Amino acid sequence: MATKIVTLTELREHTGKNDIWVLINGKVYDVTKFIDEHPGGDEVILSEAGKDGTEAFEDVGHSDEARALLPPMLVGEFDHGDEAKAKSYQSTASAVAMDSAVQQTSNVFYFVPLAALVAYFAWRFYA
Ligand code: HEM
Repeated sequence: MATKIVTLTELREHTGKNDIWVLINGKVYDVTKFIDEHPGGDEVILSEAGKDGTEAFEDVGHSDEARALLPPMLVGEFDHGDEAKAKSYQSTASAVAMDSAVQQTSNVFYFVPLAALVAYFAWRFYA
């Protein structure tokens, strides 16, 4: 049987409590039945429902036993054309962090001329 290809649109449709798909390392898994047995609790998996949960899954450092549970839950391969989109969808938070870093740098540029102005008036006042 040919491997099923799951698109991003399809992945995002499975986020209900009784219908949960998660993308991990390029493959999509139906974890609906598994979440009740998950040693890490159902909440953490639910928060990755319909998304790329690779980072969350890998950050925990899941054992080989945990990885061995995945194949029976396989739905199919993720559509690689959609992979970049899934990633950019996830990285919105880091884009926001980046924006505020840029803003902090521009605050410094504000401060320098202001300090010069204050120094000038101080000099006028005391001279
Ligand atoms: C969807 C497939 C997943 C499977 C098959 C799975 C399986 C497991 C298993 C078997 C364990 C026990 C420890 C181990 O053997 O490594 C575990 C623990 C854990 N998992 Fe998952 N997991 C999945 C997804 C996730 C996701 C997406 C998260 C999100 C953060 C997560 C967070 C955790 C945490 C925090 C623990 C530690 C629990 C503890 O030690 O108290 N898991 N998982």
